[in-house]
Amino acid sequence: MIPIKNKEGIARMRESCAIAAAVLAQMKEQARPGITTYDLDQIGRDLIAGFGARSACYGYSHGSRRYPAHTCISLNEEVVHGIGSIRRIIREGDIISIDVVVEYNGYVGDNAATVPIGRIEPRVEELLRVTEQALHLGIAQAQVGNRIGDISHAVQTCAEGHGFSIVREMVGHGVGRKMHEEPQIPNFGKRGRGEVIKPGMTLAIEPMVNLGRYEIRTLADGWTTVTIDGLPSAHFEHTVLTTDNGPEILTIPRPVSVSVSPSTTNS
Ligand code: MF3
Ligand code: CO
Repeated sequence: MIPIKNKEGIARMRESCAIAAAVLAQMKEQARPGITTYDLDQIGRDLIAGFGARSACYGYSHGSRRYPAHTCISLNEEVVHGIGSIRRIIREGDIISIDVVVEYNGYVGDNAATVPIGRIEPRVEELLRVTEQALHLGIAQAQVGNRIGDISHAVQTCAEGHGFSIVREMVGHGVGRKMHEEPQIPNFGKRGRGEVIKPGMTLAIEPMVNLGRYEIRTLADGWTTVTIDGLPSAHFEHTVLTTDNGPEILTIPRPVSVSVSPSTTNS
């Protein structure tokens, strides 16, 4: 069963998603050459805490492993779930995927984006542009009465139409009280297949698109996934609410009212 959010659930989803979006926006601004991915994760941790929210990634368990960072930061050939490291310095020409998942008031907001650091190669620039475009074409299919496969098909057609490939092992998902709810939302598939979309679903749509081959593998840290050919990968994600008036992106940065404020200082 795909959870349907009521009025209150939707109101809370709006808040957690606004926080997730604000944290991501600020982390994107802070991503610059010379700092490490650990530094950037710490910036994310502080921002999340400043909103009185909690990272849904930190301590997330998969088998016996617990995710050790507050956000996911994946550079270049890293696809998703990269762990900030003091040894990984961000450099001009890199692309950096930042994934922020926060829980606030019992509801989870999930979003991600890949940003270029300074000048990057034109084909990599195209990879970022097309992956974000694929996300928006997928979102446009999140219409009441459509099926999940309509989203999948739109994403795949866009990415492959530009000669890129779609990561298969990882998929988008419903999101709400938990980070991962039904349904699964693959980034490849056929039109007219899968569950019917109804009003009040909150869906995390998240294409992961590779410049080269689609295959990925997991590093020895048990989390970080990388492309097997070492070529770059991009990732864009929004949490979307389905309504009778069409999809509404909840993870758009907008002013967030903070109900738990950090200690105030007078200076
Ligand atoms: N957006 C990612 C997902 O939906 C976030 C996972 S973070 C993890 O799978 F670290 F907890 F895995
Ligand atoms: Co997600």
